[in-house]
Amino acid sequence: MFPAPLTAPHPMTTPEGEPSIADWSLTPSKVHLNHGSYGSVPRAAQAMQLSLKERMDANPCTWFMGQFEMVAEARAGIAGFLSVSPQDVALVHNASAGVSTVYNSLNFPAGAEIVTTNHAYGAVLQGAERVARKCGGRVRIADIPLNADAETACALVMAEVTERTALIVVDHITSATARAFPVEAIAQAASVLGVPVLVDGAHAPGVLEFPVPDMEGFWVGNLHKFACAPRGTAALVARGPMAGKLEPLIDSWGFPHAFPENFDHVGTQDVTSWMAANKAFDTIQERYGWATFRSYAKELCDYGQSLIGRSFADATGEDPHVEVGMPVGPLRLVRLPKGLATTHEDSHAVRAHISDQLDIETAITTFNGQGFLRLSAHLYNSPQDYETFAERAVPELVRLARAS
Ligand SMILES: Cc1ncc(COP(=O)(O)O)c(C=O)c1O
Repeated sequence: MFPAPLTAPHPMTTPEGEPSIADWSLTPSKVHLNHGSYGSVPRAAQAMQLSLKERMDANPCTWFMGQFEMVAEARAGIAGFLSVSPQDVALVHNASAGVSTVYNSLNFPAGAEIVTTNHAYGAVLQGAERVARKCGGRVRIADIPLNADAETACALVMAEVTERTALIVVDHITSATARAFPVEAIAQAASVLGVPVLVDGAHAPGVLEFPVPDMEGFWVGNLHKFACAPRGTAALVARGPMAGKLEPLIDSWGFPHAFPENFDHVGTQDVTSWMAANKAFDTIQERYGWATFRSYAKELCDYGQSLIGRSFADATGEDPHVEVGMPVGPLRLVRLPKGLATTHEDSHAVRAHISDQLDIETAITTFNGQGFLRLSAHLYNSPQDYETFAERAVPELVRLARAS
């Protein structure tokens, strides 16, 4: 039977004693339980980006002639936040751009194979399919059970590797299933075979104290998710001999330089989000502390997951508990009642219904034909958000499931 709900953590407050949501500009009329999809930018970082835009438009000529130097400075700050050398990291607009950069830069011989998993993010998988089509190869998908532990997950990924494997693409923290993968162990096993690895770490920055794995190869991470940078800010880390192969998606004036300086030149593009990213990291650190974020978000997710799970169990008699191998702090799954959100399209429709009818933003995902509620937590969330979900959204989701 589903365990009784845990005790609610004390709601987070600002150093001035206000509810912490005061540091964000989120609509107060909505409950925001989906930080994981698009993030949310603290007011201080929004203000910083706005002032940078004003400077840019005060004199575009001066701004753009010196933009690459400001990008290099932003890159050094972001490297510090990620605990990596500035020489190992390039800035890109999002995880998708980082992944496409790797796909477009590597050499895929005729018939090459890309290995990934059944948890891969849809767009990342589509990119792999595109590369495979172009070279007349194929994508091999390792089928990893949701509850697989690190050792099993690593073994299942490596079992798909053949002499044709040109790249392994593996999630650091998955989107639909909110679990981690043993990326260092996979990179270690792959290096023995000489196979490069690309880690999709879209969710990792902010969530993990050291988000970049200790490995050679490639890692991409979004800074506009849990790290709260303005959107359009992501890091592409490359280490080892393959780093030199990376080419920016857009040819610009960085061409005489090597990685990562060649990525600092982006032509006439507004990259103020990159320059304001450090303001977001510093705001969280100075006002709350990143370690506090991680412990609070975990406690809140534990509470929300247990409370909402209990409500579903009481209403349906079904067991909403999900056994997730390698769970992560601020992202959690609750199994939805039978018949609900069994396809990708249905999950979008259910999410939109809950947003439109109940003013609750959340993520509904589907994996192997089972619908899940994917809960997120950030500093601006309070136990009341999850209580509102349990009171209002659970009965509606049960009603929808019965009607389906
Ligand atoms: C695991 C994963 N990879 C990649 C992405 C793509 O991120 P973006 O749209 O910022 O490029 C996401 C987005 O949610 C994701 O969850």
